[in-house]
Amino acid sequence: MAGIAHVVSLRHLLVLSLALNVSLILRDINQNEKHQSGAPMAVHKGTKASQLRFLSFPSESAAAHETNPSVDEHGGQRVINLDHGDPTMYEQYWKAMGDKTTIVIPGWQSMSYFSAGKNLCWFLEPELATQIVRLHKVAGNAVTEGRHIVVGTGSSQLFLAALYALSPQDSSNPISVVSTAPYYSSYPLMTDCVKSGLHKWAGDAKQFDKDEPYIELVTSPNNPDGFIRHSVVNRTGGILIHDLAYYWPQYTPISAPSDYDLTMFTVSKSTGHAGTRIGWALVKDVEVAKRMVKFIELNTIGVSKDSQLRAAKVLEVVSDSSEQAGGSEYPESFFHFSHALMTERWRLLREAVKDSGLFSLPKFSPAHCSFFDNNLGTQPAFSWLRCDGDDVDDCESFFRGHKILVRGGKHFGVSPKYVRVSMLDREETYNLFIERLSQISS
Ligand SMILES: Cc1ncc(COP(=O)(O)O)c(C=O)c1O
Ligand SMILES: *[C@@H]1O[C@H](CO)[C@@H](O)[C@H](O)[C@H]1NC(C)=O
Ligand SMILES: *[C@@H]1O[C@H](CO)[C@@H](O)[C@H](O)[C@H]1NC(C)=O
Repeated sequence: MAGIAHVVSLRHLLVLSLALNVSLILRDINQNEKHQSGAPMAVHKGTKASQLRFLSFPSESAAAHETNPSVDEHGGQRVINLDHGDPTMYEQYWKAMGDKTTIVIPGWQSMSYFSAGKNLCWFLEPELATQIVRLHKVAGNAVTEGRHIVVGTGSSQLFLAALYALSPQDSSNPISVVSTAPYYSSYPLMTDCVKSGLHKWAGDAKQFDKDEPYIELVTSPNNPDGFIRHSVVNRTGGILIHDLAYYWPQYTPISAPSDYDLTMFTVSKSTGHAGTRIGWALVKDVEVAKRMVKFIELNTIGVSKDSQLRAAKVLEVVSDSSEQAGGSEYPESFFHFSHALMTERWRLLREAVKDSGLFSLPKFSPAHCSFFDNNLGTQPAFSWLRCDGDDVDDCESFFRGHKILVRGGKHFGVSPKYVRVSMLDREETYNLFIERLSQISS
């Protein structure tokens, strides 16, 4: 009983702290409002980047654990797993949003294989299509006019669908699939997973010198290193797939709406709803779009309607929160919140790395972001660390020695002196990582 009472009081504390924080945010925004006219924007137009140090956001870390988080149940050093890009840091925002994204699906609804509407993608829920177009307008990160939307079970399924759709169907040899190293570690595995006769992984785009058709994957901002990317092979017969999973205001300045032949996005990295498994592709060519739909038909006969409806609601709230930021419903927009959180995480990381002198990080130049209407830095979803020491050849093992699990450079087609570290974990794990990183230095 005493235990339960203790847990309950901790919960009350958490709720209280959330409520207080929201009121602090409100006060902050209202004060800003006095000096601004027009609709409240997430970051007020003209605000200097240095002033973007942000609003207090709800913190779970104080209430989440009663014991020391840095030790495991046997009193040993706890393992910190930052190997995957699991976007759990966003839970904080969605908890604070309460029931705004709650949906109820009656038992008789969404039973059919088919969706209403006469979309080329016959299993696409019209409401999801509407909210995708709306959110791209709000974020300013993609042209949707003249595009077919194809929904997938994550952008992972769309990647396979795109390879299927773009590979020549009548060729005797599989088409080469390339991407500039360091590239997303799943590309080679997914491309060759079923040893397809249609396509085969051909490695680093910079090394590709064959005089034959190819598919180039352009990931921008890039996973793992966060840089803006452009195609590099640039030869006739080249086909491009743009994976823009991270082209959202919290990670990188939005320079212009993307306008490519085939572009993929996902809720996993935009809103953090990786478990909903919804991604979408914007496809110019109708025949390519049809083939992608065919692939998904053969693969999973469509995409979960329940998930699509949930994703539509989440995207709707993200757009609402931007358009009504500072109002009573939305004290803080989703992008404003997540941008502030990423800024703070990168500040802590750069500080720890600088103090240690053992590692280096990529350097990014500030650029104008049309969403925040401001000159802003880049704060990728992963940090790409290099172990600088001459005695450290395998950076992944070095980190494992400190009970930090990260992904080594060889998975991304480069030297094992590099590792990729997820920046999107829960606050408690992230803080523990920074704490441990600082200890390595001393
Ligand atoms: C560049 C890139 N593309 C695609 C994905 C997969 O996303 P989804 O969860 O939509 O399948 C990831 C996930 O880490 C990614 O980093
Ligand atoms: C509000 O957020 C800050 C920063 O995350 C946190 O330290 C604090 O405990 C939270 N609660 C209150 C009541 O300020
Ligand atoms: C390839 O083309 C793109 C788009 O036109 C351009 O931005 C890029 O600089 C080119 N790359 C090289 C290596 O020439």
